[in-house]
Amino acid sequence: MRHLLSTADLDRAEAVVVLDTAAQMAATQSREIKKLPTLHGRTVVNLFFEDSTRTRISFETAAKRLSADVINFSAKGSSVSKGESLKDTALTLQAMGADAIVIRHQASGAPHLLAHAGWVDAAVINAGDGTHQHPTQALLDAFTLRRHLRPGLGEDLAGLRVAIVGDVLHSRVARSNVHLLHTLGAHVTLVAPPTLVPVGVEAWPCEVSYDLDATLAAAPDAVMMLRVQRERMSGAGGGFFPSPLEYARRYGLDGARLRMLPDHAIVLHPGPMNRGLEISAEAADSPRSVIVEQVANGVAVRMAVLYLTLAGSSASAPIEETR
Ligand code: CP
Repeated sequence: MRHLLSTADLDRAEAVVVLDTAAQMAATQSREIKKLPTLHGRTVVNLFFEDSTRTRISFETAAKRLSADVINFSAKGSSVSKGESLKDTALTLQAMGADAIVIRHQASGAPHLLAHAGWVDAAVINAGDGTHQHPTQALLDAFTLRRHLRPGLGEDLAGLRVAIVGDVLHSRVARSNVHLLHTLGAHVTLVAPPTLVPVGVEAWPCEVSYDLDATLAAAPDAVMMLRVQRERMSGAGGGFFPSPLEYARRYGLDGARLRMLPDHAIVLHPGPMNRGLEISAEAADSPRSVIVEQVANGVAVRMAVLYLTLAGSSASAPIEETR
């Protein structure tokens, strides 16, 4: 894998390789010796133009567990605030010998530009661009779904029924998951108020519903709640919903809706959560919730992505343990 820009670029076999590699990484992490020598001497730059807790920290943790050197770059406090362009920032990182650049950017397409403009030789990994894609989030979601519902190396998610609920309009997590889950054989239903459904959704490989209760009554295997992205709703045409109270009443996952689900069903959320809006505390903290586990799985998945992009054609290099 040269870059990871979008889940739409992964075919079934490639996606399963990432999930299987992540499973191997997770197995090493569950033992006493956690640090692997695999990326010793490589440099990973975390280039974050937007805020992040989970993604930035888990990429840093993943790179360090593979023995890479890590440079954390935040736009706040950098020369970006003096007007430096993405190109000049990239050329600076190239001069410093970055082997992989993990980029989060408010502009959809920024990682694609970085990968293909010829400014850097590094592998480029998209850590979230605008409302476009967040491929490692979708991969960790698929990894979590597989662990609970289709355990076993080599397995995909054939036949699984997943409801993705909430602010689809602004969600790169939803876009990434729709493509990846479809590629892996799952059936996806998007559930949202009409004001939070993107134009052109008819072309996506999924169903669309405006009725959460009807979707839950059809017994999905998993429900993925999306954060209501109020920070992206300012300005004209922002797709605002009637009111937070009305949104929670019609589209929030609460205890009563949780009890509609079949016994085996699990609840996911990419975080950060708006407790009391798209998900109640009862649902977020219930035994069905795998939200904290998603965060832990993110480290193993990001270790796999760094390994597969940086080890490249020598990806047969063993995943070894070291003291
Ligand atoms: N899920 C996710 O991307 O979280 P962060 O914004 O905290 O990285």
